[in-house]
Amino acid sequence: MDVLINLFVALHIIGIASLLGGFLTQMKSMSAGTARFSPAMLHGALTMLITGVALVGLNQADGHTLNNIKIGIKMAVLIVILCVVYVQRDEKTASKPLFGAVGGLTVVNILIATLWT
Ligand code: HEM
Repeated sequence: MDVLINLFVALHIIGIASLLGGFLTQMKSMSAGTARFSPAMLHGALTMLITGVALVGLNQADGHTLNNIKIGIKMAVLIVILCVVYVQRDEKTASKPLFGAVGGLTVVNILIATLWT
């Protein structure tokens, strides 16, 4: 079971890489007002949700206690990110504040995941 949990943590991290990478690689475009919510960001956010839910199930099945408040907050923040990226996925350019907010919320979620121990 531990191998399976670690495998899903790896997939969870690949999801963060895709979501945050999509943001970081477009920071210059964001300043120029030409950034867009790329498929990598949408697929990364979806990967986070699916692997996160799987991790909850796997950890519970293995008898580990999880911090439900921390996971609930991460999930709420991710749902906001996912809604914005999904709704805006076909727009040719993203508004600067909205694009910045998605990047900021992603970083907030990473800090919640890593600093809240
Ligand atoms: C952008 C959103 C998210 C980010 C950046 C994120 C980040 C992380 C990171 C870095 C880890 C590994 C570090 C650790 O073990 O503490 C992790 C683990 C985990 N994540 Fe996420 N996560 C996100 C969303 C979610 C969601 C939506 C769920 C559940 C529905 C979730 C559930 C979990 C679980 C169960 C673990 C392993 C157990 C734990 O250590 O708490 N995550 N997450």
